[in-house]
Amino acid sequence: MASLIVRRRMARVIAALAVCALPATARGQYPAPALERPLAEAGAGDLAEGKRLYNAQCALCHGIDGGGGYGPSLLRPTFARAADDAGLFTLVRTGIPGVMPGFGDANGPRRSWQLAAFVRSMTRAGGATPPGDVAHGRVVYQARGCANCHVLGGDGRAFGPDLTAIGLQRGPAYLRQALVEPAARVPDGHVVVTARAKTGPAIRGVRLSEDAFWVHVRDAGGRLHALRVSELAEFRREAGASLMPAYGTLAAADLDDLVAYLSTLRGQR
Ligand code: HEC
Ligand code: HEC
Repeated sequence: MASLIVRRRMARVIAALAVCALPATARGQYPAPALERPLAEAGAGDLAEGKRLYNAQCALCHGIDGGGGYGPSLLRPTFARAADDAGLFTLVRTGIPGVMPGFGDANGPRRSWQLAAFVRSMTRAGGATPPGDVAHGRVVYQARGCANCHVLGGDGRAFGPDLTAIGLQRGPAYLRQALVEPAARVPDGHVVVTARAKTGPAIRGVRLSEDAFWVHVRDAGGRLHALRVSELAEFRREAGASLMPAYGTLAAADLDDLVAYLSTLRGQR
C-alpha cells in the first residue's frame, strides 16, 4: 500500500515533467538523430552543460550525485536499458514510457549528447567497484542481524526496504551513508510516525498508509497497527527520522566490506 502512495506521487511528478516536455514533442522538429561522436569526446564545456541539464531534469529521481533515489543508481559501468553510447543517447531522449520522461525534443540533439556524456562521466567516476572484501561483507551482514529487518533474495523480515537489488538501486556513497547516517535519506514509504489513540499507548513505527479514516503503522517489532483517525489523540510525522539503527561504530574495514558486499547485490526482486 505504501508503494502505491509513492507510485501515485511519482505519477504526478512524471505527468508534470511530461507536460514540460510536450510542446516541443508536438512540434516534432527533427528526425531521430544518430550518435555522431563517442561520448568520451565531450570537453569540459559539454560536461558543464550536461551537468546543468542533469540537475534540472534527472537529479529529482536519480539523486544529485547519481547514487539513486526513486530511480536506480547511475553509478554503474553498464545499464540494462542502454548497452552502449548510442543506447544511452537514445534513452535520455526518449525516456521510458510511463516510468521516466524523455527530454530529447526539449533539449535537442546537441544538448542530449552533452547530457548523455555527463551521465557517462558520472558512471566512470563513481561506477568502480568500491574497495572491500565482498565475502567478509556478507559475514558482517549476517553477524549484524540485518536480516531482522531486510529481505535479501527472499530471506529475512520485510521491515525496511528489500535489499535484493540494492547494488543497482544505490551507489557506494549512498550505501555508506545509509549505514552510518540512516536518517540522511529516508526512502518514500519509510516515513517514521508516532501515533497515539485516545485510549492506549503511543505507537512509533513506519507509516504504511494514511487516508481520511485510517492510519496503518508497522512498529519496529513488525506488528501492524490499524488506527482510526477519529480516535487519535496524537499523530506526528518525524521529519528526518529513521528506524534503522546507525552502524557508524562498525570498524572501518567492516564498513568497507559491507558496502562492497551490498554493491554486488543485483538480483531480481
Ligand atoms: C520521474 C523519475 C525519473 C526521471 C525524471 C528520470 N529518470 Fe531515469 N529512470 C527512472 C526509473 C524509475 C528508472 C528504472 C526503470 C526500469 O528499469 O524499470 C530509470 C532508468 C534510467 C536509466 C537506465 C538504468 C538501467 O539500468 O537500465 C538511465 C541511464 C536513466 N534512467 C537516466 C536518466 C537521465 C539521464 C535522466 C534525465 C534526463 C533521467 N533518467 C530522468 C526514473 C527517472
Ligand atoms: C531495526 C531494523 C533494521 C535493521 C536491524 C537494519 N535496517 Fe537497514 N533499514 C531499516 C529501515 C526502516 C530502512 C528505511 C529507512 C532508512 O533508509 O533509513 C533501512 C534502510 C536501509 C538501507 C537504504 C535503503 C535505501 O534504498 O535507501 C540500506 C542499504 C540498509 N538499510 C542496509 C542495512 C544493513 C546492511 C543492515 C545491517 C548492518 C541493516 N540495514 C540493518 C531498518 C533496519
